[in-house]
Amino acid sequence: MPCFLGIDVGTSGTKTLAIDERGKILADAVEEYPLYSPKPLWSEQDPDDWWRAVVATVRSVMSRAKLKPAEVAGIGLSGQMHGSVFLDKHDRVIRRALLWNDQRTQAECEEIERRAGGRKKLIKLVANPALTGFTAPKILWLRNHEPRNFAKLAKVLLPKDEIRRRLTGEYATEVSDASGMLLLDVARRCWSKPLLAKLELDESLLGRCYESDEVTGTLTAAAARELGLTTDCRVVGGAGDCAAGAIGNGIVQSGVLSTSIGTSGVMFVHSDEVKIDPEGRIHTFCHAVRGKWHMMGVTLSAGGSLQWFRNALCRELKAEADRRGCSVYDLLAAEAEPTPAGAEGLFFLPYLSGERTPHADPDARGCFVGLTLAHGRGHLVRAIVEGVAYSLRDALEIIRGLDVPVRQIRAGGGGSRSPLWRQVQADVFGQKVVSLNAEEGPAFGVALLAAVGCGTFKNIQEACTATIRIVGETPPRRSAVQAYDRGFPIYRQLYGSLRDDFRSIAGLAR
Ligand code: XUL
Repeated sequence: MPCFLGIDVGTSGTKTLAIDERGKILADAVEEYPLYSPKPLWSEQDPDDWWRAVVATVRSVMSRAKLKPAEVAGIGLSGQMHGSVFLDKHDRVIRRALLWNDQRTQAECEEIERRAGGRKKLIKLVANPALTGFTAPKILWLRNHEPRNFAKLAKVLLPKDEIRRRLTGEYATEVSDASGMLLLDVARRCWSKPLLAKLELDESLLGRCYESDEVTGTLTAAAARELGLTTDCRVVGGAGDCAAGAIGNGIVQSGVLSTSIGTSGVMFVHSDEVKIDPEGRIHTFCHAVRGKWHMMGVTLSAGGSLQWFRNALCRELKAEADRRGCSVYDLLAAEAEPTPAGAEGLFFLPYLSGERTPHADPDARGCFVGLTLAHGRGHLVRAIVEGVAYSLRDALEIIRGLDVPVRQIRAGGGGSRSPLWRQVQADVFGQKVVSLNAEEGPAFGVALLAAVGCGTFKNIQEACTATIRIVGETPPRRSAVQAYDRGFPIYRQLYGSLRDDFRSIAGLAR
């Protein structure tokens, strides 16, 4: 029976899983690696670490699932988006890769806007404004700051596409991840020649761009040997981790939106047409579904906000959780549950690492506003969960405002396992939230794309229908919806009131 591997080259580690032709997970494995931050706001990784993790996890999954090499018909690749792997003409890595959360490129973002003839013209060309995390500003940074390295540059690949090169020998990418490079004409699904010309970048720097379920090559003899697979194994395009995660949640038709709470929070909606926010507050990228697009809003610190609170302020509670053999998050949720919706006037702004959607402001800072003597730890926890949900509603309102239908909201990511997160989201969005049987995220999504590319399913919609089911529903509660409808405009106003102060505060640390 043929089976398929999904490999997700994430920021904290690589996850690989194997599925059979019905989508059943046979085994999975995770391998971690370091992240380097040689200066404040810099974030880098070594592509050799990713490769070692890919080899180790593939070998571990093969042995745990007791698979024979010839049984693996295809591989789908997913990974952290936007990162830049710089290669010389001998395919040697020139320097460590700059990652999606690296913030060093503010000046290059301004340069791109200037060269494109302004923000509006840039959005017309590539559907999005220049953000520090995206890939094109990283290439300009190399040219501006490390000219010797730039002189050696022959190719720029995204993280998962560097793994593809080591697997197949091909320089290739696919439309969903390529959208986050800021060099793709997202509407036409091909590289933007006009923008490349304005930036004085040669198209030969980039790989060939495929659709996500297309076969981009087969394993080289050396890769097959190292992984314990065969040279017949096909590698499909795959997808950036957001689109891959959305495929894993079955977001493959109009009207379905997912909210995913991990370290960051992602609002992701499928769209049959290309729709662009003229103000560039949310991203419009190609979807991993052929001929379709998606819109996406990113809250940089979602689950990460509660994780910060746990690490900074809950050491004793963590020890108690360890003694009782439960999760500290369950104890925190139990303290928050009895507090009323709206946390009795306490607000939390989740901008602990600046913010992407809707403000795109690296200077924004996290804060509690409205503290009184009556507030206890349960209120603080509730305010954090509510603040993150308000931030996701910010993206939802923009999506609704662009006339993109939202008939069903699916909760995914680690946060979707918590009843508190699900209930607060349903109440803040004023709409039912459903949960799914599939909880494996991006690696599962790209394993399904591999199954489509190898002909097991007709298309990705068929693959999702066959494998993903709704298993729970969280309806909104009327009184809570009313409380949040009163709170949301105040939450929104707080960023505007504090923006100048955030800038001054960030200036203190520079
Ligand atoms: C998406 C984004 C992150 C990374 C890291 O735009 O920046 O979700 O893909 O996983």
